[in-house]
Amino acid sequence: MNNAFLKDTLSSLSSTPKTLSSRYFYDAIGDGIFQEIMQMKEYYLPACELEIIKNKTKDISEEIESEKIDVIELGAGDGTKAVYFLKALMDVGKEITYIPLDISDNVLKINKEHISSQLPGLKIEPIAGDYFETMKALKERNNPKLILFMGSNIGNFKDEKAVDFLKLVKSYMTAGDALLVGADLKKNPKTILAAYNDQAGITKRFNLNLLTRMNRELGANFVVKNFDHYAFYDPASGTTYSYIVSLEKQDVNIADKTFHFEKNECIHTEVSQKYSIADLEKLSSDVGFKKFTPFLDNKGWFCLGLMA
Ligand code: AVJ
Repeated sequence: MNNAFLKDTLSSLSSTPKTLSSRYFYDAIGDGIFQEIMQMKEYYLPACELEIIKNKTKDISEEIESEKIDVIELGAGDGTKAVYFLKALMDVGKEITYIPLDISDNVLKINKEHISSQLPGLKIEPIAGDYFETMKALKERNNPKLILFMGSNIGNFKDEKAVDFLKLVKSYMTAGDALLVGADLKKNPKTILAAYNDQAGITKRFNLNLLTRMNRELGANFVVKNFDHYAFYDPASGTTYSYIVSLEKQDVNIADKTFHFEKNECIHTEVSQKYSIADLEKLSSDVGFKKFTPFLDNKGWFCLGLMA
């Protein structure tokens, strides 16, 4: 793990322009800051998605014929959201097994405890690991599958990368299976920008945690106060870009390498892609799905899209 982190970091900071991968946001500290982000008033995504789950899961379930369903959640997290979804499926008489996949073994323990206390009797079979690995277990399931990829995680993949990722998921699916993708929708650009540029600076801490993590795990010597957070949303493409800005001309050592930063040089750290319904329809058909059914919140800010 640390080796991959070091290797990825050295190569992405050697590129022009410099980049760092958003996958490394999520160490124990980053997970905690992301929890704070989900509570922020500017970060509207979780509330919109939960509203759809609460109001539309019954409609979603009607799109799936089988009574027996294996519900597989990619990047399941602590399961707070899934409880509402699973309960609604059970209420309409579906017989389900819940298979949460997550990189963190620890979070899966919390997930299982939480869900089994709320929904006693539900079968839960967590699998820990990178989803490129754990997804392989999907091939062996016999019941029709409903795969959940929620939380706008698809937004971290830009353009063809989103298509490629969903194609990989689709390669583990058979006829009768469905994929439910949570996507943040294009909306007033100021609303989107605020979600990634909050007043209290929580997103700044989230972004700069990458530097703290490199200091701790890779022995780097970033002086964190010499860096700032910058986010901008491009309404033409629907992409939010996040950067770390070097506030000074400075050198930083990582392992035996020295990286030079010009004053105001930016490190690209994340994309958070926003979609229109038409964009999602196109994504679904580019991946090779025949049917796309969108489910939206009342404001029309977020979409759970069913691809089959
Ligand atoms: C977890 C990828 C959905 O892009 O909205 C939140 C991560 N980054 N604030 C997103 C994030 C900055 C988040 N995702």
